[in-house]
Amino acid sequence: MKISIFGTGYVGLTQAACLAEVGHRVCCIDTDASRIAQLERGVSPIFENGLEALLQKNLAAGRLSFTTNAQQGVDFARIIFIAVGTPASEDGSADMRFVFSVADSIAARAHEQKLVINKSTSPVGTAQRIRDRILEALVQRGCNFAVQVISNPEFLKEGSAVEDCMRPERIIIGSDGECDVELIRALYKPFGRHHEKLIFMDSRSAELTKYAANSMLAAKISFINEIANLSERLGADIEMVRKGIGSDSRIGYDFIYPGCGYGGSCFPKDIQALLHSAGQVGYSAQLLEAVEDVNRRQKHKLFENIQRHYQGHLAGKTFALWGLAFKPNTDDMREAPSRVALEALLAAGTRVCAYDPEAMDEARRIYADAQHLTFADSKEAALEGAHALVIVTEWLNFRIVDFSLLRQALADRVIFDGRNLLDPVQVVGEGLGYYSIGRASGSGGKV
Ligand code: UDX
Repeated sequence: MKISIFGTGYVGLTQAACLAEVGHRVCCIDTDASRIAQLERGVSPIFENGLEALLQKNLAAGRLSFTTNAQQGVDFARIIFIAVGTPASEDGSADMRFVFSVADSIAARAHEQKLVINKSTSPVGTAQRIRDRILEALVQRGCNFAVQVISNPEFLKEGSAVEDCMRPERIIIGSDGECDVELIRALYKPFGRHHEKLIFMDSRSAELTKYAANSMLAAKISFINEIANLSERLGADIEMVRKGIGSDSRIGYDFIYPGCGYGGSCFPKDIQALLHSAGQVGYSAQLLEAVEDVNRRQKHKLFENIQRHYQGHLAGKTFALWGLAFKPNTDDMREAPSRVALEALLAAGTRVCAYDPEAMDEARRIYADAQHLTFADSKEAALEGAHALVIVTEWLNFRIVDFSLLRQALADRVIFDGRNLLDPVQVVGEGLGYYSIGRASGSGGKV
């Protein structure tokens, strides 16, 4: 099958590579000429496990092509995906400019019937708005064919986007009675090898499903962080509590890891957007407000522990900071908890030497003007000349530490762990102070 995809961000590019990999012919369209030129050379503009290899393989096989020419993109296929960004506007609502501009572009250029599939995370009612917009433009152009619009939200996680896309747990199709079910089945057939992954519903339910899924996951994290804060004060150990509740299959072990808050391009933005939608229909979504409030507070947790330890006397100290990405296996720093900790440390007059396996270029770009921020080539090098260590991202390789090196390198012999990567008994036994999240060790080493 031939498919066009507007937008070469995480969602569009991953979807394109995976659709090409299973044998479809895919044309990707983006307004960013340098990005398209880079993609034509087989270079991925984002770091994502396995993506570049898929791009190169399918480019070479002639199943993947890139263009900035919208007309070429519209003419290429009957099936057209919209996979452009829906960033947060000032007021928290999703900024739909890019989605509607692609819709308008399709409406102005189509010469035959099209199936438009919206993959961008969009407020409830967007598929209908896209449809109305396109149909109105077609009437004005005097066209005598129709364009169908369906909602097909994406659930991929950064870091495992290719894997999630190749082996989806479900594929949500939101259609308002006009969808060619057999066409959709044929499109996604290669992704549901063992059982049917498609769930059909109306477009509004599909759009809300995406927001509900992300809000539920974010709520699990804020919930465990709330219990962690209580745990610390009540003298309990959140890691024990986590295991205790996770063993209940109704609760499960996933997404109940306490830490210094969630970040990324989805959770904060999507909850804001859903809150905004709730406001528009006169509903006060109190639980969603609380999920965001708890997370905002949690992002300050590391710095609060640091301030408490130093009783506010931070100026002149140097901190080694492990982890800049909002989570492991990505170079993305959007809404990353590391930014809150880093900015608070710099504002308090400290020096920071940071290390991250993937996100240092991004950090250099964001903090190009920061005076007292340097970067190290390895986690060990970041410790040189530091008074204390701050762990922000749960990269696997931060779980293994050389205690004798830490004792030697850290002048104040203390670790502030925002992800509970280490065993408090062991750290304290090794002669280091240890602050983590929701464990008695939050008090600085009395385990
Ligand atoms: C998320 C959803 O998981 C995905 O389904 C959706 O399509 C997009 O948003 P992503 O933003 O890539 O994906 O990140 P995710 O893996 O969900 O992690 C989000 C944040 O939560 C990270 O900062 C992570 O460190 C944090 N987190 C995750 C916790 O603090 N505790 C947990 O138990 C899990």
